Amino acid sequence: MEKSNSAAKTNPRPGEPLLEINNLQVSLPDAPHVKPIIDGINLRINAGEVVALVGESGSGKSMTALSLMQLLPTGLKATSGKIIFDGEDILAMSQRQLNHLRGGRIAMLFQQPQAMLDPTSRVGTQVAEPMRIHRNVDRTAAKARVLELLGEVGIPDPSARADCFSYELSGGMAQRVMIAAALSANPELLIADEPTTALDVTVQAQILKLLDDERRKRQLAVLLITHDLSIVSALADRVAVMYSGRIVEEGPTQLILSSPQHPYTKALIQCSLLKADKDGNLFSIPGGAAQARDLDEGCRFLPRCVTAASANLQERCTHLEPALDSYNDCCKARCWAVKPDGAHSGAHEARRP
Ligand SMILES: Nc1ncnc2c1ncn2[C@@H]1O[C@H](COP(=O)(O)OP(=O)(O)OP(=O)(O)O)[C@@H](O)[C@H]1O
Ligand SMILES: [Mg+2]
Repeated sequence: MEKSNSAAKTNPRPGEPLLEINNLQVSLPDAPHVKPIIDGINLRINAGEVVALVGESGSGKSMTALSLMQLLPTGLKATSGKIIFDGEDILAMSQRQLNHLRGGRIAMLFQQPQAMLDPTSRVGTQVAEPMRIHRNVDRTAAKARVLELLGEVGIPDPSARADCFSYELSGGMAQRVMIAAALSANPELLIADEPTTALDVTVQAQILKLLDDERRKRQLAVLLITHDLSIVSALADRVAVMYSGRIVEEGPTQLILSSPQHPYTKALIQCSLLKADKDGNLFSIPGGAAQARDLDEGCRFLPRCVTAASANLQERCTHLEPALDSYNDCCKARCWAVKPDGAHSGAHEARRP
């Protein structure tokens, strides 16, 4: 039976803040000449809310996710800021508190389930482990609950599969098992880092539907990391766009995707359309994000931006980095050309190569 934490305070209710990242900086302390990998990001996830983090490869999405679990790779460290989860700073937690959090109140899904599942342990044991450790569920109850969970995530013949090893499963089945293990302790926050990138499109659609169903049923908050804006559109309540370790635009998904204000968000959306121009050329954002790392001042997107020149802002954008400012009641952008009411100082079309 599950033993309750009788005196425990009540958890945040849907709509109340569950996680707040405040001015988080992640750096390489042994290489002070290297600029921070994550440079002062702020992000809030309310209980029951799905927040997507998007951006090019290397922008810092996975390092943000790993910071939340204090699982950064060796050499990287959260050097300033706070990550407040249900009122407590994860960065100030003891090892014991972190062990309680990881896999318990916060669970994580990765791109490669096979890499995360233990090939020497049976599927049923791995799905049972989080509920046994974090919720004190006894062996008999855990066994029954594992079969229920495996059925819930769409595993056929759960009792036979519970006895399998993970290497005996297909990619889609392994991802379902990882979801069952992630849900096992009934977490409040699920971090899903590219959870379906390795799957074919039909299995991807099934897994995304499963994730969406489960999060609604459990009122689970999700930090969803993906490159795929159609997944963002289908699943996320809010989206934050990352560029070179900074958040450059943030707001409700449908507003940001239908009316983006930052030139980088516009360009990302244009890339995702995969539309060729009249000469048959597909759109791509000129230059690379690595250029941003060489800048000592100004806007990090400037080397790839056409808005600055067309809005006559080149001088300001070269020397001063804009703040992430509100441009309406619910959206923010880090761009000098975006006016507080959402109007632009100039054209926002990204440059064609
Ligand atoms: N172990 C490490 N040591 C030093 N730098 C690292 C390490 N791991 C990642 N980085 C750097 O941190 C930055 C952010 O990496 P991160 O993995 O968060 O990017 P990402 O947005 O998740 O990219 P992708 O979409 O490819 O997964 C990159 O510039 C990367 O080179
Ligand atoms: Mg990543």
